[in-house]
Amino acid sequence: MMEYAELADGEISASRLSFGTMRLDVDPEDAATWNEAERALHAAIEGGVNVVHSNSSWPTYPATCGLLAKHPRRGELHHIIKVESPDYDDAHFEPKVFREQVENALRSLSTERIAVVQHLQRGPHCPKEMAYSAAGDPRRIAALPEIAEQVQEVATELKAAGKIGEVATFPHTVGFARSAIEEDVYGSVVHFYSILEPEMVPLLDDLAARGKSLIGLRPLTQGMTTDSRFPRQSIEPGDKRLSDRYARWYERLAAVAPLLADQDGSLTSVALRWAVTHPAVATVAVSMNNVSQVEDALAAMDAGPLDRSLVTAVHAKVAELPPLGKETLFG
Ligand SMILES: NC(=O)c1ccc[n+]([C@@H]2O[C@H](COP(=O)([O-])OP(=O)(O)OC[C@H]3O[C@@H](n4cnc5c(N)ncnc54)[C@H](OP(=O)(O)O)[C@@H]3O)[C@@H](O)[C@H]2O)c1
Repeated sequence: MMEYAELADGEISASRLSFGTMRLDVDPEDAATWNEAERALHAAIEGGVNVVHSNSSWPTYPATCGLLAKHPRRGELHHIIKVESPDYDDAHFEPKVFREQVENALRSLSTERIAVVQHLQRGPHCPKEMAYSAAGDPRRIAALPEIAEQVQEVATELKAAGKIGEVATFPHTVGFARSAIEEDVYGSVVHFYSILEPEMVPLLDDLAARGKSLIGLRPLTQGMTTDSRFPRQSIEPGDKRLSDRYARWYERLAAVAPLLADQDGSLTSVALRWAVTHPAVATVAVSMNNVSQVEDALAAMDAGPLDRSLVTAVHAKVAELPPLGKETLFG
């Protein structure tokens, strides 16, 4: 049975599994790819998934919008969208950008409300190579209180109009997250969250105590923590995970996998179950490109969470290992 968690002060009941749309493999010229994606979305919704994560800047966005426009149960879905402001080089937060991106998403996604606006404060004046690491924290955190106040203003207006449920911070770093959760405007944190990216674990109890949640992204770490791609020798030739930049991720996985070796089920299942184990994790967004992947993820939700001690054990193991920059997963 799918479990649901509360978001937006209990106004939204979100399925623990979200449908991530970033990797939808749809070629508009090829009906078979469209049908496959449609079947996957349908299977997810039939299985109880009611959250869709999308981003208007992804190449998959037109297909996402097209699939949703045709879906008879689109009115039951909750959407998470991303809004960036200030961007790397910008000096200020722009309420106009926030408002416009919400309005555009309402139209494009055929919905009356955006459940969660994932707010990314990349700037002010913070180049990409800094914004994704602690190097950018001092300037981003210094601007946070003022920006949070401005976000609060536009969020209050959009909430009152019934257009959004809540705003989440997309912090990029643990340091920024620690400061952002102090701000009332952010009801949740959206961050990468998997057995290979467990850095938000130390914040989870605090989030729960504040009545806030984590929305986890890429719980299979781009498909690395699946039986199709672990051990690494089993990867099909031509797969990007064979490139050098993934080597250290696989070293990390080799160190973490023994902690989970006694658990019943496939690595794919155990990785997903680990991600929904801490109750502060409201939902995890997985890219599911076909019905079989949806069925695996639904079965993992049925199998339920793991023992809570494994959440801290995995975090502790990864913390012992050399740090890995997020840029190694770009592209
Ligand atoms: N900046 C952002 O806001 C941002 C960034 C990253 C991710 N996200 C969100 O998070 C979602 C997930 O991210 P992600 O795609 O990077 O990582 P992920 O969900 O951890 O991994 C997805 C990949 O795992 C493989 N997979 C899925 N189910 C499987 C199964 N049952 N068995 C074996 N392999 C399976 C698929 O690869 P193959 O089909 O190729 O085998 C799939 O593309 C995205 O769709 C997006 O919504 C957001």
